Amino acid sequence: MTMGTAVATMPAALDVNTLPQFVDPLPLPQIAERQGYRPSPADPKLKVPFYRIAAQPVASKVHRDLPPTRFWSFGSSIPGPTLETRSGEPLLVEWVNALPKEHFLPIDRTIHGAEADQPAVRTVIHMHGAKTKPESDGYPDDWVVPGKSSLYYYPNQQDAAMLWYHDHTLGINRLNVYAGLFGAFFIRDGVEEALNLPKGKYELPLTLYDRLLTREGQLLYPVSPDPQSPWVPEVAGNAILVNGKLFPYLEVEPRKYRFRALNASNSRFYHLSLVDKASDRLSFHQVGTDQGLLPAPVPLTFLEISPGERADLVVDFSEHRGEQLILRNDAFVIMQFRVAAGKVSDTSSLPSALRPVPKIPESQAVQTRLLTLNEYVNKSGNPVMLLLNASHWSLPVTEKPVLGSTEIWTLINPTNDSHPIHLHLVRFQILDRQTYEPWLFQTKRELHFLGPPVPPDPNEAGWKDTVRADSRMVTRIIVPFTGYTGRYVWHCHILEHEDNEMMRPYEVVAAP
Ligand code: C2O
Ligand code: CU
Ligand code: CU
Repeated sequence: MTMGTAVATMPAALDVNTLPQFVDPLPLPQIAERQGYRPSPADPKLKVPFYRIAAQPVASKVHRDLPPTRFWSFGSSIPGPTLETRSGEPLLVEWVNALPKEHFLPIDRTIHGAEADQPAVRTVIHMHGAKTKPESDGYPDDWVVPGKSSLYYYPNQQDAAMLWYHDHTLGINRLNVYAGLFGAFFIRDGVEEALNLPKGKYELPLTLYDRLLTREGQLLYPVSPDPQSPWVPEVAGNAILVNGKLFPYLEVEPRKYRFRALNASNSRFYHLSLVDKASDRLSFHQVGTDQGLLPAPVPLTFLEISPGERADLVVDFSEHRGEQLILRNDAFVIMQFRVAAGKVSDTSSLPSALRPVPKIPESQAVQTRLLTLNEYVNKSGNPVMLLLNASHWSLPVTEKPVLGSTEIWTLINPTNDSHPIHLHLVRFQILDRQTYEPWLFQTKRELHFLGPPVPPDPNEAGWKDTVRADSRMVTRIIVPFTGYTGRYVWHCHILEHEDNEMMRPYEVVAAP
C-alpha cells in the first residue's frame, strides 16, 4: 500500500499500546425507530414504514480511558441505527442533514465537486447493496446542505442480506464516512429463516473501521505536505474500532453465533483470524457474502475483507468453554471473546447446504467491456489521482447496459494496489482473476495472460456487489442488469480513491 508522505505533518498520534485492552464491552448499534407510516410512492393507497434519520454531531467514547471523540453520526453512537426489514417490504427514510455549516476534517478544494464555491458541509446517503430507483440511490451530486433532507424509498425486492448505508457526497465522501456517517441495514427472508442459523441475541453485527486518533482521542485525518491539496491516497488508522469501540470484549456462551461482519473502513483491508491462547488459528464458517447466503458454508481460518464488503460468519464456541479468544487483523489485536464455562444447549444449526446460487453461464452475456483501473503518480512517485478507464467523473457516460441484459465487466488493474470495485443497483458473480502483462495492454491494448484463470475463492462464489480487483490482474465479473433504468455509479471503495476520481457514472437504458 502506498501511503504518500502524509505522516510527517500530523499532530501527535495516540500510542494505542498504552491503553488497556478488553475493558469495554462490545456495543451493539441501536435499532432504528420507526416514526409511523407514510403513503408509498409506488402506490399511494399503501402505507409503508417511515424513518427519519438525521446526521448530527456526537461525542462518543471509543475507549474507557479516552475522552469522548467528536464524530458525526446518525444516532448517539457510531455506527448509526440499524434498519431491518423483510424482502419485498418497502420502507421510506428521510435522511436529514442536521450538521453544522463547517466541516471538521480537511477538505481538498482541488478535488472535483469540492471546489471553493461548493458548501463545505453536504450529505447524500447511499444504501450500499440496495436495488432502488436512481432518485433514491444517493447519486453523488444529489447532496443537501445542513437544514435540508431527502426522502428515499427502498422497495427491498431482493434477497436477505446485510446492506449498509453511508454518505456518498461528491468530493468529500471519504471525510463524511470517516466522520462516522454510516450504519447497517438487514433484509430478512424465509429462505434464511428456514435454515435456523443462530439468531436473536446470538446474531451480532461486527462493523470494523480504523481511525487515526490523537493522544486526546480525537479523529485525525491525515493531510499531504501540500496545504493547497491535502488529499492523501490512503488512510491507515492506529485504532481499529468494532461497533465503535477500541479493543472491546464480548462475553459469549459456548455455542454457535452468527456474526455479520462489515468493513466500513476508508482504505484498510482486513486479514482476520480468531486465535486461542496458544495463538492457534481456530476455524469458523462463512455462510454469506455481500448479497446474501453462499451455496454452502465455507470453512475458514482466515478471512480477507476489503472496504465495502460484508461477510456473514458462523463461529462455534462450544469447543472453547472457559477460554478467551482473540480476533486479530494480521498480528494486531482487534477484540476478545470470553467464552463462558458452563454447558449450554444450542438448538441453532449450520446446515451443509444454504441456498442454490446458479452460476450464470458466460454465454448469457451480450456485451463484454474492458475497463482499466488507473493510478497517476507525481515526480516523487506519490499517487495524485486515480481513474476508471482513464476517464474523469465528468466525462459523458460510456457504460450503458440494457435493462434485463447480462454483461461481463473485465477489470484490468495495472496498478500496485488491489481496488475493491463496487457497482450500484446490481449484484454479480465473479468469473475469474488472471495475471496479465500490463505493458502490452497499455501500449497495444492486447491482453496477454501470464497464468491460468483463477476461479473466485469459495467464500466469494456467491452474489457480490463489491469485488477485489487485485494488482496486476484481470478480474472478470458477470452482471445481470436488472431493476431500474437510469443513472447509477460504479467506483473503487477505497474512499480516498473514489473521491479523486476513481468513480464513474453508468446508465441502465431501456431495451430498444
Ligand atoms: Cu458503498 Cu457507492 O458505495
Ligand atoms: Cu453501493
Ligand atoms: Cu482504488
